[in-house]
Amino acid sequence: MTRMNKHKTLFFFILFYNYTEIIIKFNFRGDMSISEKTYRKIEVDPSARNAVLSGHPWIFSGKIKSSLNDYSNGEIVFVGCEGKFLGTGFVSPKNSIAVRMISRERVELSKHFFRKRFQDLNFMKRKFLSQDTDMYRLCFSESDFLPGLIVDIYGRIAVIQTNCAGMMNLREIIAETLMETLLLEGVIDRTDADTYKIEHFDTGLPSNLFWGREQQMPVVCMENGIKFYVDLIRGHKTGFYLDQRENREIIKKASTGVNVVNICSYTGGFSIYALSAGCRSVTSVDTSKTALSILQQNVELNDLSVKKSIIVAGDMFDYILNEDLSVFDIIIVDPPAFAKHTTERERAIGAYKTINSAIMKKAKRGALIFTSSCTSVVSMDMFAEIITKAIRDSRKDVNIVKRTSLPADHSSLVNFNETEYLKSFLLHVN
Ligand SMILES: C[S@@+](CC[C@H](N)C(=O)[O-])C[C@H]1O[C@@H](n2cnc3c(N)ncnc32)[C@H](O)[C@@H]1O
Repeated sequence: MTRMNKHKTLFFFILFYNYTEIIIKFNFRGDMSISEKTYRKIEVDPSARNAVLSGHPWIFSGKIKSSLNDYSNGEIVFVGCEGKFLGTGFVSPKNSIAVRMISRERVELSKHFFRKRFQDLNFMKRKFLSQDTDMYRLCFSESDFLPGLIVDIYGRIAVIQTNCAGMMNLREIIAETLMETLLLEGVIDRTDADTYKIEHFDTGLPSNLFWGREQQMPVVCMENGIKFYVDLIRGHKTGFYLDQRENREIIKKASTGVNVVNICSYTGGFSIYALSAGCRSVTSVDTSKTALSILQQNVELNDLSVKKSIIVAGDMFDYILNEDLSVFDIIIVDPPAFAKHTTERERAIGAYKTINSAIMKKAKRGALIFTSSCTSVVSMDMFAEIITKAIRDSRKDVNIVKRTSLPADHSSLVNFNETEYLKSFLLHVN
């Protein structure tokens, strides 16, 4: 090839390369919601770059070099550092968590983006659920790369919670896309008033927004073939403690023919599983009379023995400290979160020590103890230390049958433990 021909070939190659790149970019943008110029840029300090690159989804206000006042609440931005693009995020200009990362790519938060994300999440989450389960967590905010968005599916209804202004702004599009993608009848938003305040999102919105067909409460949903009445408007969390699903299956395996006590039972998740395994009796303790009344309805709903289901409306501390726990073969204790902030952590640790020490002392030989902590400011290590001390003080030979965390539909991130709130031990008194 002559020198001239070589140049010509190179020229056409460059032309062809650029042309195909334009076509690829165009198509890619069309399919993947990739956007190039849609959002304003925000500059972050180099000291925040490593954390973002290693997948941490938050950038604190002290690490933002741009003037945060120039951004609107919940604005979508392209995050950059010293000329390098880091990803797409939401800005909360007045919060200490100033930016929440959505993607490492230049994404456009369109209906198309959410449709693809919800389809992918649903495909992945359903892999770990039985066919006869229709209530599960579709999206767990930062852990599923949709920061500040929780979506729980209950049959043909989704319950959402938005925990950052960026997601609050996009609720309309989220609800519509959820209904279209998953063929739902309705979407309920249970974002609470405190979260609106924290996010400076002052819209005067009612606490429960609703899209689609209004539903009568409670609805009947199914978990591993067991039916539950769930109140999606007044119930705890989004209606049900979906996070204990895998632990309930473990308890079911040990429940046949034995006496079970379920302390902090709520509407009877563990109790109904124990009854369906043919336990001799299950005593359910809770302060909420409403939850206990639904529990008894859940027994009937599944054609289980109401006689075997004993209800105690009362306080867990009173019950644990004053009742004879040696009559039970399985003792379950799943208290509510004892603290929301690190400032209350010591109080929470004290409460866990009190209940776990008493249970360990009172449990009979051969008993199984299932103990949980859903307090996010008490880590697995801290909880393990509490359990270790309770075992030591009981002077009994207690071993760990299983140490569990959240179920597969509650994803987490490697270097972000804020979403890993649930930790449990199944212990055996030898
Ligand atoms: C984390 S939920 C339990 C969820 C349950 N294990 C399930 O699988 O559905 C905690 C429960 O403790 C109850 N509770 C809160 N304070 C209590 C107390 N002092 N004594 C007894 N129950 C209490 C709440 O009403 C709630 O139902």
